[in-house]
Amino acid sequence: MSDAPRHGPETQARACLAIILAAGEGTRMRSDLAKPLHRIGGRPMVSHVIAAVLAAGAGRIAVVVGPDREDVGAEARRAAPGASIHVQRERLGTAHAVLAARDALADAPDDVVVAFADTPLVTAATFDALRAALGRGASVAVLGFEPADPAGYGRILTEAGRVVAIREEKEASAAERAVGLCNAGLMAIRGDRALALLESVGNANGRGEYYLTDVVAAAAGAGEGVALVTASPDEVLGVNDRAQLAAAEAALQARLRRDDMRDGATLIAPDTVFLSADTRLGRDVVVEPNVVFGPGVVVEARATIRAFSHLEGATVGEGAIVGPFARLRPGTRLGPDVHVGNFVEVKNSTLERGVKANHLAYLGDATVGAATNVGAGTITCNYDGAFKHRTTIGRDAFIGTNASLVAPVTIGDRAYVGSGSVITDDVPAEALAIGRGRQVVKPGWATTSRPRKPT
Ligand code: UD1
Ligand code: MG
Repeated sequence: MSDAPRHGPETQARACLAIILAAGEGTRMRSDLAKPLHRIGGRPMVSHVIAAVLAAGAGRIAVVVGPDREDVGAEARRAAPGASIHVQRERLGTAHAVLAARDALADAPDDVVVAFADTPLVTAATFDALRAALGRGASVAVLGFEPADPAGYGRILTEAGRVVAIREEKEASAAERAVGLCNAGLMAIRGDRALALLESVGNANGRGEYYLTDVVAAAAGAGEGVALVTASPDEVLGVNDRAQLAAAEAALQARLRRDDMRDGATLIAPDTVFLSADTRLGRDVVVEPNVVFGPGVVVEARATIRAFSHLEGATVGEGAIVGPFARLRPGTRLGPDVHVGNFVEVKNSTLERGVKANHLAYLGDATVGAATNVGAGTITCNYDGAFKHRTTIGRDAFIGTNASLVAPVTIGDRAYVGSGSVITDDVPAEALAIGRGRQVVKPGWATTSRPRKPT
């Protein structure tokens, strides 16, 4: 899957520091949330980038955040607990941002990779290709792409097939603007040259900005090699506003669906299935149309997720059937061959092998033993207004329809609960519990007592 290690033999023996620039202003998002924390595939953008560089073999991660953005640093540490966080106090450009992580750079690794938190779709394989170019002797490796409309991007300038500079659009001549090969932004720099190259980037023409892209001319001018790696426009899509966030989501979904199908899951209508970056679908899993996978879902081999189901934080065992119209909430563990049917909600509950809850039920904070049948309309009353309580049901038990199980409560192995019961006391193994008003039958009542309109 996308987070699998991708570093090849060329880069395996090389140490790598990844510097992730996450100090963007993000004003066009019109959001109280920092741009790197906006999610695609259920995961913050900064964490996508961290996952990719980790998979490409980065042993150290440095994240550059804006002032007062502890939240971005905290998310980065969730994704990579050892990450160092650096604050860029003034926003003086991409080279200036990289130099905010000077402490990390000083202790030079073999490769330095610079990535942008707002360019979340770059794959581990691409980061690895940038690193491999350094391994072959380049001082700098840049990532180029050919967008339909190059306006706004830096242009990669070549002479006799060699990369000599990157020119930002606002400083480019008309001839340079005609170049279609654009800079995706991120790059790799040899560790023992990184600090010197970055420090050589001046503010000479008074732009008030230090451009990371200027390390290219600095290296080429010193006779050092600059390598070019290329990517598809989709992979280097940058997110500056909500429309681009949606475009990145769409591109990521397409990739996740493709990966899952490649790995042996059937998606009957792939465009209608929404996956999270960490969704794991086993071999021969079948997903019907219109299913949403929130974060933290694992579906084991041969299970079927039927139409219009919503899953989050749940494990579905081998051969289980979920839905249509089922909702699995965090903490759900379904064993092998469990059936959870239409309009059944399960939360923080374990259903062991072969349990059936096929219609209209709520199972919250419950443990249900193997082969137990949970009738239609069964509700675990798990909340007393202040605290949550557990319901424990044994193996091979039978819970009649429309039962209310008032937790905390335990129902033993092979016990029966009569339909419509409100169960407030424990039920021993093998017992039948009935908790409802007795039925009363009044023969002939309608003849004598039925209300009638006067004739
Ligand atoms: C950059 C490249 C450009 C490339 C484009 C691709 C430079 C000088 N230009 O331009 O060649 O075509 O990306 O999208 O690098 N950041 C900071 N601190 C800063 C400035 C930027 O952390 O002071 C971060 C931003 O949050 C962002 C990244 O660096 O993640 C890129 O910055 P941005 O301002 O978007 O650069 P572009 O002008 O798009
Ligand atoms: Mg940008």
